[in-house]
This record gives sequence, structure tokens and C-alpha cells, in this order.
Amino acid sequence: MSDRRIFVSRRLPEAVLAPLRSLGTVEVWPEETVPPPREVLLEAAARARAMLTLITDRIDAEMIERAESLAIIANMAVGYNNIDVAAARRRGIWVTNTPDVLTETTADLVMALLLAAMRRLPQAERALRERQWQGWSPFDFVGLDVHGKRLGIFGMGRIGRAVARRARGFDMEILYHNRRRLPEAVERGIPARYVDFAALVQESDVLVILAPYAPELYHRFNREVLYGMKRGAVLIVASRGGIVDEAALVEVLRAGHLAAAGLDVFETEPIPPDHPLLTVENAVLLPHIGSATVETRLKMAERAVDNIVRVLTGRPPRDPVDA
Ligand code: DGY
Repeated sequence: MSDRRIFVSRRLPEAVLAPLRSLGTVEVWPEETVPPPREVLLEAAARARAMLTLITDRIDAEMIERAESLAIIANMAVGYNNIDVAAARRRGIWVTNTPDVLTETTADLVMALLLAAMRRLPQAERALRERQWQGWSPFDFVGLDVHGKRLGIFGMGRIGRAVARRARGFDMEILYHNRRRLPEAVERGIPARYVDFAALVQESDVLVILAPYAPELYHRFNREVLYGMKRGAVLIVASRGGIVDEAALVEVLRAGHLAAAGLDVFETEPIPPDHPLLTVENAVLLPHIGSATVETRLKMAERAVDNIVRVLTGRPPRDPVDA
């Protein structure tokens, strides 16, 4: 019975999936780390009533065109640029995400990445493990002060505001640039100063990219923009790859124009083994772990399941997104 199949694209705890079991036949892709191949997703889209997807599953227009009875694609992520939302909406298929539940966890990781990049924690730890530490020395492992610096946030949404709150605890001054300016009362409450893109780039000591991916942001941080940043500044990339031209970033880091960078996301994931960033000493690289805590990943899975339950029981989902 095609209309009662619920496809789940990765193994998730049984307790989380339980509410789906009474609503139809739940088919779980059995791998833990390897995403289902395109043919599996095509078949699932064609025949399932609901799909629970991850950011590693590309759900394109062709898949959506084949859908016979698909009512909802519930992405277990706040970002949803892996799904052709416009194509889904044209066919009346809900697309949902999991906002809010990962905001604070991701903001924690952004601060950790910022601290790691500025204080050179991975480099220092590596040296110690490699038995290269010869004892305290005035200029060994020196990084940059975090406190008192000017933090620029590109993409001041929920996570941006949570990062800003944390940064205020480090006495940082906050600048931001967004498509839409925040209400003045919200700006005053942080406090944060709205600036245009050029000023954000030129004035930030640390610039954090938190904007969701959109095609018009492809390589928004190109060579010219990166060289337009202050000499000795630091770039943190934590929302989606593709917004930064990684080849240009390698060049500005190697040239010493930027002091350091921290990336949790990449244009191609997993990062290819021959990617030049892997050889850049002043880059801290993480495997897309912004929301990776046990508590938060469970909440994200529960929220995706809840969106499916609502739609399959005739209610609108809690977290619909649009193109
Ligand atoms: C998201 O939710 O979009 C993150 O990138 C994965 O947690």
C-alpha cells in the first residue's frame, strides 16, 4: 500500500521512530553513516507517503515529479538546501525543518571553533601529543585575544543571536549584516550594530558566516572579499559550504592575510582527501558537527517525526518551509 510507506533515510533510535509505526510501514535505510544512493531515494520518493531526510540526501525535482502519494519531506536539520522546495510545493508536498532545537548547541560549537582557531588549540594539542612541547616558552603556541575583539556576524538569525549573546560574555563588540535588518529594540537588546556588507568585511576582527545557503550566496566570500578583510582577521564558517570560495581562502591563509580560519562546513562534504585546506596549518577544520550533541540530535529527530505525524494525521506540520 504505497500511501502508507514512511521512508527514514538513516538509522535512528527506535523510541524516536515509535510514533510513526502506528501510521504505516516504516522503512529505515539500514546504514548509520552511509546515505542511501540516489536510486533508493528515487524509489522512496515515488512510493512513500512521508520521507524523513537528512542534509546528505539530495531530493531534486526529478524525484519529486515521480512522487505518487508523497505528502511530506521532513528534513532533520534547520537547513534544507538539499531539497528542491519549490518543486515540492508546486506538487503540494510539505517540506519541514527542525528549527529552534539546535540553536544553542550550534552557537556553543561556533564559540568553540572561534576559540580553537584564535587560540590555536588544535595546533597546540597536536604538538603536545607529538612530543614536541619543550616546556613553557614566551612565544610558543601564541594565538590571538578573543575578548574585546569586534565580531562580525553574516546572517543574524536565531543562531547568530545566540552566538552574539555568548560573545558579549567575552566583551566582544557585535556588528552584523543580514538581508533584513533586525528591529531596533532587538539590536539594542543584544547590543549589535547593523552595517552594510562592505563594512562588515572591512571592520570585523572575527567574521562568522551563519547565513543559510542560497544560490545568490555562492562564493559571496571570494578572493576580493577575503583580501578586503582586515589583515590578521579570522574567518569562521559555520552554516553551509559554498558561501566561501575555498581555493581563495587557502590562498589568503597561506599568504598570512588572514590569521586563521575555522570551518565546520565545506562546499563538498565529506571534504575530499586531497583538498588543499587539509594542508593549511592555520585552518581549524571540523566535520560538520554544529548540532552534534546527543540531546540535540534526539530533539531534531523527534521534531522531524512530529512533523510527519501531524501531516499523516491530517494536520499542518509545525515547521513548514517555503522556497
Ligand atoms: C542543519 O541543521 O542545517 C545543520 O547543518 C546540521 O545540523
